[in-house]
Amino acid sequence: MTVNPQRKYRDDYQAPIYRIDRVELDFDIRDGATRVTARHSVRRNPQRIGDGGRWWLDGRDLRLLSIAVDDEPVTDDALEVTDTGLWLDDLPDRFTLTVVTEIDPDSNLSLEGLYRSGSILCTQCEATGFSRITYFPDRPDVMSRYTTRVEADAARYPVLLSNGNCIESGEAGEGRHYAVYEDPFAKPCYLFALVAGDLGVIRDVFTTTSGREVALALYTEHGNEDQCHHAMASLKDAMAWDEATYGLEYDLDSFVIVAVGSFNMGAMENKSLNIFNTACIFAHPEMATDGDFARVRDVVAHEYFHNYTGNRVTCRDWFQLSLKEGLTVYREHQFAIDHGSPGVTRIEQVRMIRDVQFPEDAGPRAHPVRPESYVEMNNFYTITVYEKGAELIRMMAQMAGREAFTKAVRHYLDKYDGQAVTIEDFVLAIEESTGLDLAQFRHWYAFAGTPRLHVRSSFDRGRLSLEMAQATPATPGQANKPHFDIPISVALFDEAGSVLRAPEIVRLTEQRATFFFDDLESEPTVSVLRGLTAPVRLEFDQPPDALVQLMAYDSDPVSRWDAAQSLYMATLAAAVTAYQNGEGMPALGDGMITAIAALLSEPPDDRALLAEMLTVPSTTQIGEAFDAIDVAAVEAARRHVKHEIAVRFADEIDRLADDHAPRPGYVFDQESAGRRRVFAIALDYLACLDTPAIRERAHRVYDAADNMTDRMAALNTLQDLPGDDRDAVRADFARRFADYALVMDKWLRLQAATEDGDAVARVRDLLGDARFDFNNPNRVRALVGGFVRGNPLGFHRQDRAGYALVADEILRLDRFNPQLAAALAGLLAPWRRYAEPYASGMRDALARVSETDLSDNTREIVDAGLAVETA
Ligand code: PHE
Ligand code: ZN
Repeated sequence: MTVNPQRKYRDDYQAPIYRIDRVELDFDIRDGATRVTARHSVRRNPQRIGDGGRWWLDGRDLRLLSIAVDDEPVTDDALEVTDTGLWLDDLPDRFTLTVVTEIDPDSNLSLEGLYRSGSILCTQCEATGFSRITYFPDRPDVMSRYTTRVEADAARYPVLLSNGNCIESGEAGEGRHYAVYEDPFAKPCYLFALVAGDLGVIRDVFTTTSGREVALALYTEHGNEDQCHHAMASLKDAMAWDEATYGLEYDLDSFVIVAVGSFNMGAMENKSLNIFNTACIFAHPEMATDGDFARVRDVVAHEYFHNYTGNRVTCRDWFQLSLKEGLTVYREHQFAIDHGSPGVTRIEQVRMIRDVQFPEDAGPRAHPVRPESYVEMNNFYTITVYEKGAELIRMMAQMAGREAFTKAVRHYLDKYDGQAVTIEDFVLAIEESTGLDLAQFRHWYAFAGTPRLHVRSSFDRGRLSLEMAQATPATPGQANKPHFDIPISVALFDEAGSVLRAPEIVRLTEQRATFFFDDLESEPTVSVLRGLTAPVRLEFDQPPDALVQLMAYDSDPVSRWDAAQSLYMATLAAAVTAYQNGEGMPALGDGMITAIAALLSEPPDDRALLAEMLTVPSTTQIGEAFDAIDVAAVEAARRHVKHEIAVRFADEIDRLADDHAPRPGYVFDQESAGRRRVFAIALDYLACLDTPAIRERAHRVYDAADNMTDRMAALNTLQDLPGDDRDAVRADFARRFADYALVMDKWLRLQAATEDGDAVARVRDLLGDARFDFNNPNRVRALVGGFVRGNPLGFHRQDRAGYALVADEILRLDRFNPQLAAALAGLLAPWRRYAEPYASGMRDALARVSETDLSDNTREIVDAGLAVETA
């Protein structure tokens, strides 16, 4: 906590004064304290010879025992220690620095640096956690080769791990033992990792294309080994995929993953020693849903892919974070598309952009993919840096063509191997290799905000004119936006669904332009921005029959789904307005009825696509269509439309449920996961009818389920149907899975999302339940996050009790886990997007948080939320 948190600016970048070629670390792990001895070979950066000046080493919450230059203790006048680091003066051009610090992982609840998760000691160093281990220039452009010795009690910590190869191990007397690791690759300190614990393990071997054997190991607390096989299989898949797709072969003899219960994020790509949240590793059919299986597969792949895009070529500074994250998410997306239903996988990505990234880009925390400044880097691991960053890569790949782009990525990796570089370096490499001119495209990295793309079509004497215009709203600190280079895919169909013009990409580079399509016999059906070729909001008023046609036969599944969404939205928007005006709710639009009837009588082969197309837009998506989100109206509208669909198509949906009823023997593949998804959505509609039959059916499904996906479908069906059936299955669920913390997270979420009764009181009770734990971010996300996201009516209660609850928990968590507290504060920050009385309720809660002494993390979010609106 500092009084005046310091803001860092991208433009202030200066190369480091000193480089550290070698780092030797020694961890002496004892009860109550761990002693860290660090020896660094330091030399003046040739780029900065003659610059003079003192050298800054970052360090937080450390006990400095000694510091020496060339084994001579540093004298007081050459040393200045502050609470965020220290200055060293009078340094030679080349020297050995020895720093001895003491840290206490047991009292470190920030989950950064060295900390305890259950019986495991582990590290988390990105972005700046290494400075909680020792004094060090904690910045990614200082790259060093590490040798790490770990010593600990042999009985309590039989497994000792760090990056690279184990070169030595043995007894250390008094029941202690040690291991020494050497990482042959120079790396920034954020990729350092260490683990000590009594762990269970599963092992495997991967043989690379060139025939090298890589030993694979996945460690976790004893008793969980049988939940790790899917992660291991996914790892091998990812290794093979990266060879086949990018020609990238793993570069060490061992690859280790450790899964820990307490982790602030999903996972971390430390060189050869990834550390994961158990939520991104554990996947057993009885305890994990299809969604969990997919997440595990994708996160394991993501972290593995970082070995090249992130580790071999890393970031010069944290403003360049999207250099590694955008590119790695893009690679993860490609991998996911190759491993599931391509259409539905892309739909999920598109939904993420529209439901989460667009709101961020329109809120108080809007920032460019390459931010210009930050107070706390941890606040910038955002959907914008990750997912919008990946969309920018995808746009370049589209422009270049997939093969040329893959080659360009290889060129980038070869050119900068072993270096810490910038987004500009990346874009240059892509230009060099593909010949593209990305001058205007670069605006995407520099400017925040979602461009609106307005499209108008007209038809005259065989010629279709598509008039397109772009406009980007101002964002905090950026009043004026340039014109973006927007790739837009266009396809034309006739009434029977035949392709008149195969998909092609047009580029809107001006504020406005018209594109012509000639020699058409009659007015075609237009399909634009297919599969979201650019992260823009499309404003294109299409008549319902055009949408119905696209929904039935567009060659791109994403466009079919998109057309369905637009049809739903029309009725939903009308319902929101009717509710607000106190009028009767509208009937379903004719277009929508035709479309759903067609969908049910001639469903797409891809069952997951059918499920997606039957899903009414989320409340977030509906809210996005309005200037001010009226929570009660949006909820009422969505409920109304679902209910009307259920009534109108009750028989068809019942049949759909029967046709997709659970089959014994769980397999996680596209076909069976698709079936389960259709079954779940059918039950969800039937629940809207609230008949005794559906309650009984859900109870039966629950009892018969041999996997978590079907079990959750049953529990969700009963979610809004209070009564004996619901009580019985929930009680059974809590008993059956009492020993599985991640399953109990699902239980917490269910209760947080329950609307009947007093949800706020229920959540407050659960905060005191033995099954809850403030020190575990998964629990907090499940209960508090689950309440905010899963229970809009409870969170936005008129008596403001929901806001008060969240504010209380922000304040509580901020004292020990600022990163998590800041994430929760982000839920209150976008209050301006809401209608009254919600907006002032959220703002007042945020203002109350603001009155306290806060961590830099939370302060940055709260201040942004309360800042006087610019623009
Ligand atoms: N770099 C991690 C990733 O793969 C995310 C992360 C960031 C984890 C910061 C921990 C801390 O995306
Ligand atoms: Zn990542």
